[in-house]
Amino acid sequence: METQTFDALLQNKTQEIEKIIRSYLPAEEGRQKTVLQAMNYSVLAGGKRLRPMLMLETYRMCGGRGREIEPFLAAIEMIHTYSLVHDDLPAMDNDEYRRGRETTWKVYGETMGILAGDGLLNYAFETALRAFEIADGTDPGMLLRIAGALSVLAQKAGVHGMIGGQTADIEAEAGEIPVTAEQLRFIHEHKTGALIVASMKIGAVLAGASEEQIRLLERCAEDIGMAFQIQDDILDVIGDSSELGKTVGSDEQNHKQTYVTLYGLEEAKRTVEELSQEAVEQYLKNVGCDHEFLERLILTLIDRRK
Ligand code: IPE
Ligand code: IPE
Ligand code: MG
Ligand code: MG
Ligand code: MG
Repeated sequence: METQTFDALLQNKTQEIEKIIRSYLPAEEGRQKTVLQAMNYSVLAGGKRLRPMLMLETYRMCGGRGREIEPFLAAIEMIHTYSLVHDDLPAMDNDEYRRGRETTWKVYGETMGILAGDGLLNYAFETALRAFEIADGTDPGMLLRIAGALSVLAQKAGVHGMIGGQTADIEAEAGEIPVTAEQLRFIHEHKTGALIVASMKIGAVLAGASEEQIRLLERCAEDIGMAFQIQDDILDVIGDSSELGKTVGSDEQNHKQTYVTLYGLEEAKRTVEELSQEAVEQYLKNVGCDHEFLERLILTLIDRRK
């Protein structure tokens, strides 16, 4: 695929996802208007929409053609956005700049930042449940697949997924002892890997992929998630704040131990490359479907600058 073709496709697909996400956002009205505004402020600030992109592409690659995927695309982005809103709070990473604007708590205050995160998390499930309204009730298989997808979403966002990773991240920051390679792996796998695994797994489950295909796509997503967070650590050191849309140097400020502090910049870069190649060669290619776009997307992330 030509670079121009890929870029154009990526842009079109991102626009499609953007429209879907917007169509599921709550109306800003009623006595709870402020929290609704704060929720939408965070989601509409943009972002790469990588998780919905991985979900939709996995779904289509596995033969999914229905609209049941749509509320899940919006839901995963709501959960991801809530994780960022809370991650930026003074009690966590204390960051004031995100997605090219002031963070939610900076604009709406800390209390509203907490509530907007809570609101997005809950609204994500209210949204995902709407897949049942879209599904044709005469296909019991689809109802089961939606239930399966909901279960993946719940687990990967929770204490055994993203929240678990954030917990370990914060504890490691407070500790005097340097983190071990194993601890850091746990942190990255959970705080970031879990939602990326959820994205691809939900796409596969909803499309009705086989057990073996789901297993391969999970392994693939684990590698992507790990590579993605290592690159995030790298960009926190060498990235450009205006390009990234968020503060650089946040990790150092918070005495965070990252892949860069543990292994150095060059080794961290090599690992991003290796994991991304492995995601494609060992897993994606063995799923047995047309994987051209996803392969290109995964490899493009190696050199991402935002
Ligand atoms: C940032 O995620 C937080 C991490 C898990 C590394 P993204 O880099 O996907 O952020 P957005 O969605 O594009 O803003
Ligand atoms: C983010 O890790 C993980 C989650 C939000 C779950 P970081 O704290 O490194 O993310 P950024 O760099 O603030 O986006
Ligand atoms: Mg953090
Ligand atoms: Mg952070
Ligand atoms: Mg970071």
